[in-house]
Amino acid sequence: MRTEIVRGPEGIEQAAHWIRQGWPVAFPTETVYGLGANAFDETAVARIFAAKGRPADNPLIVHVLGADDLAWSRLVAEPVPKEAVALWERFWPGPLTLILPARPEVPALVRAGLKTVAVRAPSHPVARALIAAAGVPLAAPSANRSGRPSPTTAEHVYEDLAGRIPVIVDGGPTEAGVESTVVDVTRRPFLLLRPGATPREAIEAVVGPLGQPDAASSRRSPGTRHRHYAPRAPVTWVAEDDLQVIRALLSQAAWSGRWGLLAPEAVVRAISAPVAFSLGTDPWEAARRLYAGLRELDRAGVERILVVWSQRQGVGEAVANRLAKAAGEGEGAATVAPLFLLFVCSGNTCRSPMAEALWNRLEGPLRAQSAGVAAVEGLPAAAEAVRAVAPWGADLSRHRSRPLEAVEGTPLWVLTMTRAQAEAVRRRRPEWADRVRLLTEMVGEDGEVADPIGQGQAAYDILATQLVGWLERLRAQLVPAAEGKTEP
Ligand code: TXA
Ligand code: MG
Repeated sequence: MRTEIVRGPEGIEQAAHWIRQGWPVAFPTETVYGLGANAFDETAVARIFAAKGRPADNPLIVHVLGADDLAWSRLVAEPVPKEAVALWERFWPGPLTLILPARPEVPALVRAGLKTVAVRAPSHPVARALIAAAGVPLAAPSANRSGRPSPTTAEHVYEDLAGRIPVIVDGGPTEAGVESTVVDVTRRPFLLLRPGATPREAIEAVVGPLGQPDAASSRRSPGTRHRHYAPRAPVTWVAEDDLQVIRALLSQAAWSGRWGLLAPEAVVRAISAPVAFSLGTDPWEAARRLYAGLRELDRAGVERILVVWSQRQGVGEAVANRLAKAAGEGEGAATVAPLFLLFVCSGNTCRSPMAEALWNRLEGPLRAQSAGVAAVEGLPAAAEAVRAVAPWGADLSRHRSRPLEAVEGTPLWVLTMTRAQAEAVRRRRPEWADRVRLLTEMVGEDGEVADPIGQGQAAYDILATQLVGWLERLRAQLVPAAEGKTEP
């Protein structure tokens, strides 16, 4: 798929057209670029996860024009606490996201199965024009590959998602540079789940002190568990601007190679670094330049990045928060749950491992796993199955069977061969109930996938050929064929 960069009213119309066709498009907001799709269209939303390689347990923010637009009533369930109303009246449109009770119409994928939905009304004129033209609320995470720094220019989006999405609406560099502040208003006191471009102090002036999420509530904002905002080079964050401390750190041997410095202007001027990027002279400028700086230093090919930042007032809190994540600090920050499809059959020795291996022979962020509803642990794949997938370049020789209960993480979709297996998955992994589908139905075929056991090699060979075709269709639904990057 060729990714076009478009601008102006015609560009917005073109992007709205793709949204109506069920595709995600990238667009500017006042914080960072978002990757948005119709929030009520589950396939369109699945395509966001596939394009980004985003873990399926990380819910999305739904972007609306305001709390009075028509789709609102299909998003948010009553009752909404009246202090929350005070927040949206004060801060919308703008960079504040509210966690609100969700209506059942909001697809489970948007909410990652939670009973709440994140909603915000962006103030960027292009974002507003796009929502209006599309006529639906847009579920949109930041438009970066999962785990990478968020994009603050159309070029950043192109760098990460070229070949994976149809269009990027270019609205120039974003104004705030860090994401919206996320506040959970379903809890008392209201919880600050993510510091961001609306300073905590401004919110507390309206609703009083915000609470801090404890371990249980950070499970409610699952995205906070994954490594985030990270460039390729390892990041060391020094939460201090004392030049003596920085010089002492640099005297260590580890800093003798090609490293990069990302720091306030005064520090950049005082310390000589092989490559440096200035965060400017105040926290707003630092927020605006942070992600561009991380990307720039990566592009310069540095082996390590030293970031110097000490402020935690106002938007400085968001900058410090993103640096902690980029440096891999915080509870479980380094564990990334990869995005995956789960194929399920009975014994996990023929049909589902064949589908898994045939899917995984193709490149892409969305990987496959398999399991069986009646599987014994540790059996190899049937010899016929191994032989059937080999000509397609798939290797099943090291496969070992496993039961459903052994699967960790949250699959994007659970694809079963039969209806009975789908029922068994819903019963035994109720937390995945909304994600279970019959493989044939997903690819527009009738019937079920019959067990080839005992029918000789030919039956397995036919099944392999069928699976290759079906998986290609499934892939085209989720991941557009990346024909390499086309220049913008
Ligand atoms: O500024 C922004 O908020 C940008 C622009 C594009 O609007 N969007 C953004 O989205 O940063 P994303 O997906 O990168 O971050 C969404 C955050 C995650 O931390 C996620 O866990 C949290 O919002 N979130 C979404 N739905 C939630 C829910 N129902 N409960 C708790 N947290 C939720
Ligand atoms: Mg993000």
